Amino acid sequence: MHKILHGAFLIANLSLLVMFASYAAGNPEQGKLKADACLGCHGIPSYTNVYPTFHVPKLGGQYGDYIATALQAYQTGGRSHPTMQAQAAKLSAEDMADIGAYFESLQ
Ligand code: HEC
Repeated sequence: MHKILHGAFLIANLSLLVMFASYAAGNPEQGKLKADACLGCHGIPSYTNVYPTFHVPKLGGQYGDYIATALQAYQTGGRSHPTMQAQAAKLSAEDMADIGAYFESLQ
């Protein structure tokens, strides 16, 4: 009896871990939907800006963690750029992870 209970606990813990891992890594399917507004500037596949005034970094293929961290920095003011601060202001931590996962999935 004790062994069976222990096994059930182990399985519950493992599935929690898996859930946490997929949350932390972001969901590229969700990210694709959420990144729609970003593509006007971070255009894919050519990565050129309609506005030649400023350089828009290429996001496709960058690490998801890097993208999520950059977005967080714009949101909290750690990185200053008025355009991106406005973009990041609306995003939750989950949005950032999802968007990061989506861009990471592009090569
Ligand atoms: C109006 C144009 C515009 C839109 C829309 C836009 N961006 Fe940006 N983005 C920029 C520019 C310009 C920069 C460079 C800012 C800088 O130098 O810090 C940038 C920088 C970034 C960076 C940092 C990249 C790096 O290499 O450090 C990330 C990440 C990013 N944007 C993500 C997004 C996401 C996600 C969205 C959609 C929610 C988005 N952007 C929408 C123009 C835009």
